[in-house]
Amino acid sequence: MFAVARVALTQGENTMIYPLILTLHLFAALIFIGTVFFEVLFLENIRKQLPARVMLLVEQGIGRRARSLMPWVLLVLFGAGLGMVWLRYLPALASPLSSSFGTLLALKIAVAVSVLLHFLGAMFLFKSGRMSPRYLHFIHGSLFCHMVVIVLLAKGMFYLTW
Ligand code: HEM
Repeated sequence: MFAVARVALTQGENTMIYPLILTLHLFAALIFIGTVFFEVLFLENIRKQLPARVMLLVEQGIGRRARSLMPWVLLVLFGAGLGMVWLRYLPALASPLSSSFGTLLALKIAVAVSVLLHFLGAMFLFKSGRMSPRYLHFIHGSLFCHMVVIVLLAKGMFYLTW
């Protein structure tokens, strides 16, 4: 039944579904990557220019907004990613080592899972009241590196071959 649904979605009048899902993935990715880049490239720098009390309020405001928005962004990002795999890339992932594309896509998904674990870890630390500036600094830096790697893999899988 799943195979029939897959064929129905990838053929005929529904061929627009893939570009639609890809566009959703791209928008969600740019919101997520943009937020991480903003936090590292702007917020860490602004910290030195603002009184600690003001900075605390700014961070609390951003944190509250991020915690309400990001679960939805991640849902769209991962939902769309899985949708694209289901529609087009299952064969490539079935034997990831037999093509450069499959290898890079599998690596990209592994890095994305690590991103998800960072996010869940951060949510847990916030909810249990154990988040500290040191943890936050580490999570931001680590996510920044993950984002750079994921973008390089996302584009590299189409342009690198071996
Ligand atoms: C933090 C999580 C993720 C980020 C930041 C991310 C980011 C991106 C970016 C920037 C692209 C390039 C899009 C383009 O240039 O048009 C891309 C493509 C892609 N991503 Fe993700 N992604 C994430 C998670 C996932 C997951 C979990 C999956 C699958 C389970 C996935 C599957 C794909 C696929 C299949 C493409 C290629 C689409 C195509 O051009 O046909 N991604 N991703």
